[in-house]
Amino acid sequence: MLLAAAFLAFSVPRYLTFDPVQSNVPAPDGFPAHYVLLVGHVLCGTVAMVTACFQIWPAFRARYPRAHRVMGRTYVLAGVLPGGVLAIVVGLVSPFGPVVRAANVTLGILWLATTIAGFRMARQRRFVEHRRWMVRSFWLTFAIITTRVTSGIFGFIMYGEQMAELTGPTDPRTQMFSSIGVWVGLMVNLVIAEWWLERGTASERKARRERRLRAARR
Ligand code: HEM
Repeated sequence: MLLAAAFLAFSVPRYLTFDPVQSNVPAPDGFPAHYVLLVGHVLCGTVAMVTACFQIWPAFRARYPRAHRVMGRTYVLAGVLPGGVLAIVVGLVSPFGPVVRAANVTLGILWLATTIAGFRMARQRRFVEHRRWMVRSFWLTFAIITTRVTSGIFGFIMYGEQMAELTGPTDPRTQMFSSIGVWVGLMVNLVIAEWWLERGTASERKARRERRLRAARR
């Protein structure tokens, strides 16, 4: 939650001014709707990130099952679905170059696919599978933070002090470190999601520990 709050406080306010001059992402030539779509993406992304924090919290789910259902619908219908479609549209014309475009579209498709799968499983009351898909969806929502961190790390490693001279997203050096950073960030979160699932729920981990203890005593 702290990480989400820090990311949102740092990245979102400039888009709440509805002033295209404040945007970090220049609109491509001949695509005047870009800014409106980008702002729509940022707002839906914010809804997804805030609701995701509550959805993944076991005590909140157990204590407020009705709120979990309402927030779950908000996460899917007002967050990921519109946010993901808009991410793909703005991602296809990203000024950060073709490799970032490919990463953004891949991330957008995975974000939509895992969330739709999780939503369908909940509707069919298949809650074990619902949890698994939503854990993946959650870590993809947060991949956007990881990609910023990994891009920053690669930028610093590759260009160090030259970072201050870079001229923006179309600078080949920016495109180089962003391309590596976005793909690495995406992979990191996919691996964390699978590790999280392998680890199991708290009760599964407890049962495993007890089995190990019993086996050790024999
Ligand atoms: C997980 C799937 C997501 C994808 C594929 C994605 C994709 C994108 C793309 C393509 C852009 C435009 C930058 C460019 O052209 O390269 C963008 C911008 C942005 N996105 Fe997302 N996004 C995702 C999730 C989120 C979430 C959950 C948030 C939370 C608020 C968010 C917040 C932003 C912000 C603030 C910007 C503006 C860029 C900036 O000022 O640095 N995104 N995103």
